[in-house]
Formats: sequence, structure tokens, C-alpha cells
Amino acid sequence: MSSLRVLVFITLFIKIGAQTGDDVKHLITQLFTTNDYVKQVRPNRNQLQPMILDLDFFLVGIDEVDELKQRLITTGYLIIGWTDEYLNWTGADFGELNHLYVPQTDIWMPDITLKNGFTKLEKLGSSFIKAKVESNGQVTWMPFEVFESKCTIDITYFPYDQQSCNIIFVVWSSSVADVMVTLWNNGIKLDSMEDNAEWSVVSTSARENVQASESTVIFTLNLKRSSNYYLMNIIIPIILLSILNLFTFALPADSGEKMGYCITVFLSFAVFLTIVSSELPKTSGSILGYYLMFQLGMGTFVVCCTTVELRLHHRNGDVPVAIIRIMKCRNVNKITKMEHQNETESEQGITWSDVVSSLDVVLFWVSTAMVIVATIAFLGLLWTR
Ligand SMILES: *[C@@H]1O[C@H](CO)[C@@H](O)[C@H](O)[C@H]1NC(C)=O
Repeated sequence: MSSLRVLVFITLFIKIGAQTGDDVKHLITQLFTTNDYVKQVRPNRNQLQPMILDLDFFLVGIDEVDELKQRLITTGYLIIGWTDEYLNWTGADFGELNHLYVPQTDIWMPDITLKNGFTKLEKLGSSFIKAKVESNGQVTWMPFEVFESKCTIDITYFPYDQQSCNIIFVVWSSSVADVMVTLWNNGIKLDSMEDNAEWSVVSTSARENVQASESTVIFTLNLKRSSNYYLMNIIIPIILLSILNLFTFALPADSGEKMGYCITVFLSFAVFLTIVSSELPKTSGSILGYYLMFQLGMGTFVVCCTTVELRLHHRNGDVPVAIIRIMKCRNVNKITKMEHQNETESEQGITWSDVVSSLDVVLFWVSTAMVIVATIAFLGLLWTR
């Protein structure tokens, strides 16, 4: 859609606003044949002066942010302007013709390129793109590209992450004494920007940089991921499953359902994680990844506890005194009353089944506390950044 728009834009530009076709022919003969234009010569009459390039970057769309390959793919075009001192004429001599379109291969072009590119270093534009030349020698060139640039992507706060990516343009061969690139406007132009479903642009900036006689312009794109999809499809279902997991301890051991229930929850967790892992960035180290590990660990913990509980539940024989003492400590008030009645411990009729149900209560609250603390810590880390 957007590339179409640019193509239409370029096609409109090709139309020559001259009075007659002969004027254009004469002008082209004058500029390129009579004046003997040599495109290898940097068009400064005084070669001690550097050629100043003005650069603007129009972002058309963000195509992809690849966490695994650490790259950003954007579609956009540059507007590069400079003055070609060999391409000037007096408009009156050519029927008030004051601009001309020439293929980019016919005139001098700066060797500007994407410095942090992902694919091999290539010249910008293509032979069908034309540059606009005005009668005062001002050349405007708009190469349209899909830029693949390197970008370090940190997924610690996924899916509430923000990424900052640089798109760096450099004058490759020429030194800063020969060709220098400067900014036309500040920042990236977003006028023709198409929305991306996952990423939105928070802010942009641009700066010029001259380092070791290399002239660069650095455009910075700050991107924010829209997290709603991940909240709805990953985070909330996991929290709900973890609540189901806790309620294993609310089922009485007699019911015979306890083991089946907790294994079902564990399995649905495992199946869900398999689905979810395809949605996650394939890089490790995100807080969400650690939280998923914690939840899986909790699932294992609940299954193990349930197994032990069921084993105890079906045990015959007396409950050891030590365990009864521990249970007494938990219910100090009740036990104090019992002690007044002066009964011996074994006569109080505490069975393994009672031990298991008090264990259930303890484990329920302990696991609830663990899940709540971990979930608050997890959401807090994501949301308060
Ligand atoms: C073109 O520009 C140069 C200076 O850059 C000037 O000397 C020359 O007269 C100009 N030619 C025309 C036809 O205006």
C-alpha cells in the first residue's frame, strides 16, 4: 500500500514541467554534452570544499522486529539533497524550464549507505529512481528501500518491553573532508507511516556524528510493543490455571478425585505452555519465562505433595506423638482445653486422615502465599518499569 503511494509519487515527479520537448533536449545536451559532465567528479568547483549532503528519513512502516536475529526491518525512504555545481542553468534560456529529472545513474551520486545493515553493503536506490535537478544546481534524490538493520533487542520485560533501534547512514568511501552528511530536519518523519499491529513508535531522534573522518547520521527509533494480546492470551490464562492448581488442596482426600484433579491441571499447564512457547521470543532471559518456570515448578510441587498426602491418608496405625505435638501447637486453644480434660494423646482419636486434612490447610495457604507473592512480584516488575 505504502510502497504503491511512493511509486505514484515518483511517477508524478517524472513528468517534466517544460514548455517544449525541445527545450528539455537542448538543456540535456547543454548540461551533459556541451559542458562535458563527468559523473566521477565530485561536483564542487572548488575541490577543497566538502560536499554537504542533507538527509531526511521518512519511515513508511515497521515490517519486523526479530528478537532472535536481533534485527529490525523497516520500510522507508531517504530524501537526500545537495548542490551539483555543474548542473546549473539559466531558466530563461530554456523556455523557463527550471527543473529536470535524470536517472540516478547519470549524475554524480554520494556513496551513502546503511552502516548497520544486516545484509551485504549495497548502494541505495536503483537505476529507475530519478533525481530532481533544479536550475540552481540543487539535486534531490529519494531512494526507497527496505532497510534491514541490526538492533540489540532486550526481552527482559517482554511483553511490556520498549526497544530502541538505530538506523545509521554513512558516507562509506569518502572522508569527511570530501563528503559530509548533515541532518535536514530533526528526527524521523512519520507522515507517511503505516501502523504495525504489534509495534508503535514512541519517539524518534536523530543526530550527526563525525568519528575518525567518517561522517554518519544516526536515526533512533523508540518502539513499544502492544502487550494486550500477550496479557489476554498468556498471562491471564496462566494465572487462572495457577488458581486451579491451588484448589487441589481444597479437595478432601476421601473423595478419590484429588490425584486426578491435580494431574489434569498439571497436564493442561504443560499443554498450554507448549502452545505459548511458540508465541514467545525464542531468546531466554525474560521475566515472563522465569514466571512460567515458577508456575511449572508449583505444579510439580502440588502433584508431589498430593501423592505424599494420599499415602499418609491410607496409612494404618497410630499417628506418632511428634506429629500430634506439631498439630497441637497449631491449635493451641483447642489443645489447652483437651489438656484440662487430662486425656492421653493417643486417646484423643487423631487419625492419619485428620493429619492429612490439616496438612491440606497448611499447604493451601503456603502455596497461595507463594503464588500471590510471585505473581505480584512478576506483574510489579513488568508494570512499574
Ligand atoms: C553555475 O554556478 C557557477 C558557480 O557555482 C557559476 O559560476 C555559473 O555562472 C553558473 N552557471 C549558470 C549558467 O548560472
